[in-house]
Amino acid sequence: MNSNNESIVSRIRQHFPNIDHDISGKERIFLDNGAGSLVLKEAANAENFARINASANVDGQYYESELNEEILKKGREALAVLFNSKSPDNIFQGESASSLSFLIAIALRNYIGKEGNVISTYNEHYSSVGPYIFLKKNGFIRDVKLTKINPETTEIDLEHMKELMDKNTKLIVATAESNLTGTKSTITQLRKLADENDGLLIIDGVHYAPQDLIDVTSPNVDAFIISMYKLFGPRGSFAYLSDNLLRQSEPYNVDPFTNRFKGSFMELGTRDQAIFNSSFEVVKFLSNLIEDKGIISRSGIEEAFAWNKSYLTNLNKFILEGDGYTPGLNNIKNVRILGIKETKDLDRRGSTFSFNFENIDDAKAEKIYWEKFGITVVGGNHFNLAHDYLSRKSVLRVTFLMYNTIEEARKFLKATEYIASI
Ligand SMILES: Cc1ncc(COP(=O)(O)O)c(C=O)c1O
Repeated sequence: MNSNNESIVSRIRQHFPNIDHDISGKERIFLDNGAGSLVLKEAANAENFARINASANVDGQYYESELNEEILKKGREALAVLFNSKSPDNIFQGESASSLSFLIAIALRNYIGKEGNVISTYNEHYSSVGPYIFLKKNGFIRDVKLTKINPETTEIDLEHMKELMDKNTKLIVATAESNLTGTKSTITQLRKLADENDGLLIIDGVHYAPQDLIDVTSPNVDAFIISMYKLFGPRGSFAYLSDNLLRQSEPYNVDPFTNRFKGSFMELGTRDQAIFNSSFEVVKFLSNLIEDKGIISRSGIEEAFAWNKSYLTNLNKFILEGDGYTPGLNNIKNVRILGIKETKDLDRRGSTFSFNFENIDDAKAEKIYWEKFGITVVGGNHFNLAHDYLSRKSVLRVTFLMYNTIEEARKFLKATEYIASI
């Protein structure tokens, strides 16, 4: 690791109290980031602070109520910077990405209409496609069609997507990065396809968010959904929704007088101030990662993700190819990786790696990683449609984030080499 990267990563690690051990004191390497990251110290403290001190509801003319409102406002503003949204009014909060996806789908039922169809892909988390299957089953919309993916790279087959589209296609729903294989989608191409029908484009950015820069203006998307527990923060999620999508939406509103362009239009019930306060700290941390300016800024976010991307690209190269001392996944006999494997294609993938061993099943391998090496590697279908499409009942998955070191990656590769040789 070059010394600049080393000092940034070691600085980052100081913000995560459990970075190298769990509460039992066991030393471990945390690579189950695809299922949820470790939590930033400042985010946890802010969650606690808001829970205790701002538990009052909004709209009161007393201190705790005003503090609650202030926290919600600051949180929304911070998230607007992270998404690069022109206004905090386009930011909506939900209990999970799944619940936001359902709310958005239900709100769009009449826009899609009884003759309309939705196009998605086989790269999706169940929560992105499930809501539209629900609309179809209940007769609100005509169809949900799934685009094939390339069995080798798991990239979306855009030609097939074009074939599936027709004049009744109202919406494309796709992931920014597969939570199963780490393969990224070309959002610009998806935007062009959606535009051919003046359709909407919804992006699931849950897995992508801790790895790459979010910018809802480049290209313009109509929804971008993230979950804070994948991004060093609390359980709870946020979505950017475009004015265009909001205009087409008819959500269920508890409050009949709700403003179409404000929170309660898409948010059901009282918000949890602790999630907003904690998420604010995540955005602040990212804004000040490279240079401590003490404020939240888009330029700080851009610097953080420029560094993060180049750091993780190097790390990903090492995972695939190894070096003179350690073999990479591509060179270990008995390891079968899913998705993009060529180092020349690293810009088309993120830092998630899924694989099986030829010599040992996933459950046994998972146990050895944990008991012999103290590494959190988890097998399963990871709630992603591709596992079925590619006929892999279960795959082992690891995800490297900005706090993972090259040394941790080396230990993971050595453990993998050992298990492959059993
Ligand atoms: C790509 C992707 N989308 C959506 C989700 C669902 O997120 P949530 O648990 O917040 O509903 C996940 C969770 O693993 C995910 O990885």
